[in-house]
Amino acid sequence: MSSVLCQLEEIPDGDSRGFSVDGRDIFVVRQGGAVLGYVNVCPHLFTPLEMMPDDFIDDSGQFIICATHGALFKIADGECIAGPCQGESLTKVPLAIEDGAVKLAS
Ligand code: FES
Repeated sequence: MSSVLCQLEEIPDGDSRGFSVDGRDIFVVRQGGAVLGYVNVCPHLFTPLEMMPDDFIDDSGQFIICATHGALFKIADGECIAGPCQGESLTKVPLAIEDGAVKLAS
């Protein structure tokens, strides 16, 4: 089984994409040539974050947003900075980029 999620170029810069890997829902946010990965579970009520597929970023493009109650999370480290779970964090998924492919880091 490959740990490749997609090619980096398949995610527009600043955008996000959801994946289901080994029964676990995760999502990836692209920031230029870097990617950040998190488990798709809001620390407030443990629900998925997105309302629409692959839609994890707020309108400002600055934060990850939970569609249920609007909690905002920093893209860089997943910390919730506004909303009902302020101070809690998303669970990070370590990623790597190899030959232009986004992979789960083992
Ligand atoms: S479930 Fe995410 S903010 Fe409430």
